Amino acid sequence: MHPVILAIESSCDETSASVILNGKVLNNIIATQAVHQKYGGVVPELASRAHQQNIVAVVDEALQKSGLTQRDLHAVAFTRGPGLMGALLVGVSFAKGLAMALNIPLIEVNHMQAHVLAHFIDPPQPDFPFLCLTVSGGHTQIVLVKSHLDMTVIGQTQDDAVGEAFDKAAKIMGLPYPGGPLIDKYAQLGNANAYKFSETNMPGLDFSFSGIKTAFLYFLRDEKLKNPRFVEENVNDICASLQRHLVNMLMTRLVQAAEQTGIRDIAIAGGVSANAGLRKTLKEVGEKKGWRIFIPALEYCTDNAAMIAMAAHFKYLDGNFSTLDVAPLARMPI
Ligand code: KG4
Ligand code: ZN
Repeated sequence: MHPVILAIESSCDETSASVILNGKVLNNIIATQAVHQKYGGVVPELASRAHQQNIVAVVDEALQKSGLTQRDLHAVAFTRGPGLMGALLVGVSFAKGLAMALNIPLIEVNHMQAHVLAHFIDPPQPDFPFLCLTVSGGHTQIVLVKSHLDMTVIGQTQDDAVGEAFDKAAKIMGLPYPGGPLIDKYAQLGNANAYKFSETNMPGLDFSFSGIKTAFLYFLRDEKLKNPRFVEENVNDICASLQRHLVNMLMTRLVQAAEQTGIRDIAIAGGVSANAGLRKTLKEVGEKKGWRIFIPALEYCTDNAAMIAMAAHFKYLDGNFSTLDVAPLARMPI
């Protein structure tokens, strides 16, 4: 059996489709929604409408580029959650319709599990058990991965996600949405030791990122009183210092998690794992600690259907299918 699965991702602001053949991802088509930029964040209603507009073309392109047709499919997979309800509904309804029309099984995928499973798209692949720091616009988790489909969150944010901290800080500086990649870009030209921010400590392996947002707001307000052009004149140093701070907060907990579990296969996943500062620091710390580290290709860090397809492949092999009455979940634990 060489399962062919079509996967659809529509949890936030990317409409994406991917075809996977016997565990090999054939393509990963992504339509990014530019409409949110002028609002400084994702507008849920606009996201749903854009998914509706994009989904047929994105799915068609994925099928066409795979050289296969609907008739070759053994299952249709979709992101069930977590995500924006209206956005998820578009993907779920589309997947259901297609599965019904073709009379093939439906496979629901947990978006956060899929971010972790992006590590199985291409070699090298981590060995079980491994730790995955999963960092996105909505989540910040340290996941203990026992097998492809058996994962436990051992640490997580108690408030904002780290991606949110990046995006909100960027917004405070007047940078467009999503600000994370821009902070990353400016940080590469700046001095990370220029400014210091204080940390909020949480118990155990948990994180807190809401304090830094307020601290950053007051920091800029005070500096701008002294020099109204403070941000414009120092944007690289500000971004580098803030990024260093956020990356250090992540790394402190990741090091603790590795020490507590004794696990030395360490991965990162999710949109923020595209961050050059995080990738570089992980490599440096990993070398010192003797870890094997796993960093996804940039294409598989931010939201994409290839990771949904990868997760669906493992579920297919497991015979883990959904019924047609399955509903999306805005919140969905790993
Ligand atoms: O995984 P993702 O695409 O969507 C969610 O599931 O949330 O993650 C999006 C988040 C946004 O907060 C975005 O600013 C952040 O990932 N991000 C980055 C970078 N690229 C994306 N943050 C920092 N540096 C980057 N290079
Ligand atoms: Zn995501």
